[in-house]
Amino acid sequence: QSKRLFPYHITLVGFMGSGKTTVGVELSNMLAMEQIDVDRVIEERMNMRVSEIFQLYGEQVFRQLESNVVEELSKRENVIIFCSGGGVVLNEKNIENIKETGVIVWLKASPNEIYRRICDDHSRPLLKDNMSVDKISQMLESRLPLYEDAADLVVNTDGKDVEQVSHEIVQQL
Ligand code: S3P
Repeated sequence: QSKRLFPYHITLVGFMGSGKTTVGVELSNMLAMEQIDVDRVIEERMNMRVSEIFQLYGEQVFRQLESNVVEELSKRENVIIFCSGGGVVLNEKNIENIKETGVIVWLKASPNEIYRRICDDHSRPLLKDNMSVDKISQMLESRLPLYEDAADLVVNTDGKDVEQVSHEIVQQL
């Protein structure tokens, strides 16, 4: 992969609760770049919450909508920060599209830290029936190689606040 000059899109990936949205907003303030959340774009288009899309149409339909939005955002000409959903790495095509125009930052977090951050939030369909450290560990385990492969930059977020994580990213861009 050739070395690109800044600026390019910055895409935040990572498991649910890794801080993609909060870090995305902070980065957008620091860098004066527009921030867009893939899940929010999907929700606006469908006029439904992500959980309702899963419930009514199933995961496959959601993944298709997600891929469409990722492809569109990757092609945007103005430089943006975009925050994916945790499952964006499940489709290789998404990663190819993102890498065409952007740098992928993986926000890494441990199962315990993820659990602590999202245990009271019931909006995530994939953890709706089993919000536990075990379930998170199991899902994270299967996705780890995908995040590892996709990442241009890795930032460990355990025990750090949003400002610290954002500063680390900017330093390493
Ligand atoms: C998902 C993560 C969610 C959302 C959907 C599926 C996943 O986004 O896209 O519930 O497969 O990890 P967040 O990572 O923003 O919670």
